[in-house]
Amino acid sequence: MQVSIKTGTASEVRADLLVVPMPGDGSKNGPNSPRKRTAASLPRRIAALDRSLGGIIRGVLSTGDFSGRDSETLLLYPDESRAGDVRRVLLLGLGKPDEIDAERLRRLGARALRHCEGKEISRVAILAPTVRRLGAEECAAALAEGICLGAYRFDRYRKKKPRVGNLKSVALLFDRLASASEVRRATKRAVVMAESQNLARSLSNEPPNELPPSALAKAARKLAREVGLDCRVMRTAELERRGMNGLLAVGGGSSNPPALIVLEHRRPARKRGRQQPVCLVGKGITFDSGGLSLKPAPNMQEMKHDMSGAAAVLGAMRAIALLDLPLHVVGIAVAAENMPSGAAYRPGDIVRSMAGKAIEVVNTDAEGRVVLADALHYACSEFEPAAIVDIATLTGAAMVALGPWATAALGNDEKLVEALRAAGEAAGERVWPMPLLAEHRQAIRSNVADLKNAAGKDAGVSTAGAFLGEFVGEVPWVHLDIAGTGWTARTTPYHRGGGTGVGVRLLLAWLRARLAAER
Ligand code: BES
Ligand code: MN
Ligand code: ZN
Repeated sequence: MQVSIKTGTASEVRADLLVVPMPGDGSKNGPNSPRKRTAASLPRRIAALDRSLGGIIRGVLSTGDFSGRDSETLLLYPDESRAGDVRRVLLLGLGKPDEIDAERLRRLGARALRHCEGKEISRVAILAPTVRRLGAEECAAALAEGICLGAYRFDRYRKKKPRVGNLKSVALLFDRLASASEVRRATKRAVVMAESQNLARSLSNEPPNELPPSALAKAARKLAREVGLDCRVMRTAELERRGMNGLLAVGGGSSNPPALIVLEHRRPARKRGRQQPVCLVGKGITFDSGGLSLKPAPNMQEMKHDMSGAAAVLGAMRAIALLDLPLHVVGIAVAAENMPSGAAYRPGDIVRSMAGKAIEVVNTDAEGRVVLADALHYACSEFEPAAIVDIATLTGAAMVALGPWATAALGNDEKLVEALRAAGEAAGERVWPMPLLAEHRQAIRSNVADLKNAAGKDAGVSTAGAFLGEFVGEVPWVHLDIAGTGWTARTTPYHRGGGTGVGVRLLLAWLRARLAAER
């Protein structure tokens, strides 16, 4: 989707659909409403538009049918003699002015876009709202991001595609701009962000027969070529040489061999002293059957999304490269398929991880932490990172605890956990801190090995996190459990079910904040 920036008044617009975002004034609509919205409370630009349309908006407000509450929608067909070239006017409620933030605008962009689907609409203009707290650049960016996220579909396997209409571009119409070129640049960056999230969504949505570990590696190679990243893929022979027995054990049950994918963006920060990179590590189980500890059949197909952490890392690396962040970032995707077979690892096995710690396998369905153990150890020993963040659909317990509404976070460095929480808030991808206690570390001690890979029902998010924490040494580390947020069955303004691309925006917001703090 193309998003362009224009300046001028609404009455000069030529469009099949003019979208008018309407901040609320706190009044309620409905038949028994004590207070209906009055035209006097209309923002100046909307009032001017309304005059040119012959008062159609004022007319609607006086009925009480629309007041500007968040997610209210009303489509108007202005009188042809007055409307000039505007065939349709779509009023979209924005809610209370002091509640309008980037996320509201992201959703608004998506709502506008979706309204056009299946209709004969090819030219759309959105009357870009002025939100003082955000500024024109941030407003344009949030709208553009929402538009591109809202437009996303995963239909490459459908011969008969749903009718989506012929919309190719959306214009954001501003009154006047101090620097239109800055706003255009911000919009371009937002489109890069959205497309990177959409890449993560597509990888997550790919069926497991089409996306085994080798295909994920191929996708990473292609991405690296396109955006300018270094890419290395380690396959069985090298994994054996390096002693990555955790990854090999989990991948062993499948005829699709495992792989470790390393993407690197080298752009040292402008800072004196030794440059340590930041590492991002994603869980890439391309299908999680549970292995010999087989999962129940209902909804097992959802486990194609068990590589959403790896997808987020690839999406984030795409954005990092295209936006050319002045940071050294290493993205690692650890890919395997967890299957039962005669070659599968078993409950009772003791696996010697790359770090030298022996892992007693008590449940082959707790495979994510076993592959991440090697990936985290590899990242820490190979790159000596300044910080490491892993992202994984790790536990059903995270879904139970936080649902689809927040990503669970824990780590060994309070400041870093707080930095990711704050980045989540800024990005509109909520992150909720969870504890990592001595008792959680105690719970994963094994009687026959150094660690066991599952600790029963209690505190599932934290015991899984405690297990991972055994493999990062002293490196500041945060673990993000996206089991609840990585994919969704719901439709929201900018989701349509399937992979959400969660993590891409969050990781970029975190890296940006790190950069800002360095300056
Ligand atoms: N990939 C699953 C976690 C998961 C479950 C994500 C449901 C999203 C929805 C993970 O590999 C897993 O199976 N975890 C087990 C761990 C347990 C055996 C200790 C779980 O959460 O049940
Ligand atoms: Mn599992
Ligand atoms: Zn899994």
